Amino acid sequence: MENLPASASSASASRAFPTILLTGATGTIGTEVSKLLSTAGVPFRALVRSLQDPKAEQLQTLPGAELVIGDLNKPETVASALLGIERAFLLTNSSEQAETQQLAFVDMARQVGVRHLVKLSQWAADRNSPVRFLRYHAVVEEAIRATDMAYTFLRPNLFMQGLLAFRDSIRTQGQFFAAIGEAKVSVVDVRDIAAAAVAALTASGHENKIYNLTGPEALTHAQMAAQLSAALGKPIRFQDVPPEVMHAAVLEIGFPRWQADGLVEDYAHYHRGEAATVASGVLEATGQAPRPFAAFAHDYAPQFA
Ligand SMILES: NC(=O)c1ccc[n+]([C@@H]2O[C@H](COP(=O)([O-])OP(=O)(O)OC[C@H]3O[C@@H](n4cnc5c(N)ncnc54)[C@H](OP(=O)(O)O)[C@@H]3O)[C@@H](O)[C@H]2O)c1
Repeated sequence: MENLPASASSASASRAFPTILLTGATGTIGTEVSKLLSTAGVPFRALVRSLQDPKAEQLQTLPGAELVIGDLNKPETVASALLGIERAFLLTNSSEQAETQQLAFVDMARQVGVRHLVKLSQWAADRNSPVRFLRYHAVVEEAIRATDMAYTFLRPNLFMQGLLAFRDSIRTQGQFFAAIGEAKVSVVDVRDIAAAAVAALTASGHENKIYNLTGPEALTHAQMAAQLSAALGKPIRFQDVPPEVMHAAVLEIGFPRWQADGLVEDYAHYHRGEAATVASGVLEATGQAPRPFAAFAHDYAPQFA
């Protein structure tokens, strides 16, 4: 793994037991973090809700992965997973329980003596934001800062991989939609977020840092559609829709109301142009430039084809 100092890699690999705990290891970012750690020979423990889940079964096949069962809604099931852990990666999906789940985890990590928490936060986290996701992330960041633990806050912008949610309409209708108009967003590749997480979990120098993680350019959704068209060799169209249409559509595909409401708030924030700045967090954290959207479109083309 190009971003991992050799000393960190060999020191961790020579230990018989993992000192890194991942939450969210079966998710979009966590899967990439797990693969990077495994490839680098760094043993890690992953908290999963069930060993029978196909994503957990896949995780189990990675060299160096140790799976432990726990549910962040039941903190008592998580405490033993933290024993012997020095650095932990904190990630949950954005649900109505996220703030409570994460605050309970922070408290447990502090009690068992975890030294460093790497928290997956979000671009523009702010406890006064009109976007509920940004408020809860800010509250958790503040709680972590109030402990003695070192922290690294990863604040990514909109994920490029979010487009995978539109796989079906891209495949069958050649289009995707959102309530964003012509606003630009400095979208970031999840693989770069994972590389930043791995750097913070395995090397020194990331203590008490905040990394704003973006791609190398800000793009409109129409520009992303044009780049996807080039990668797929067929026209892909972006359709701007009113917020209420987006809201109804995500409810229809099964989003809980709290999350659907939050997603529409998020897109209003993008629409206001509040996520268009290009930041240097990926380079600062990993020493590598972030991937452009064209690289994402090329690498993921088979999934949209
Ligand atoms: N999407 C974006 O564009 C974007 C942009 C910036 C920041 N973010 C932030 O990214 C985070 C989501 O990351 P992601 O997309 O990688 O998440 P994800 O794919 O939804 O994965 C969520 C992970 O959390 C685990 N989890 C959920 N409930 C749990 C519980 N009760 N106990 C233990 N584990 C539980 C899931 O496990 P299971 O497999 O068991 O469900 C899964 O591993 C959110 O905090 C969001 O605010 C997202």
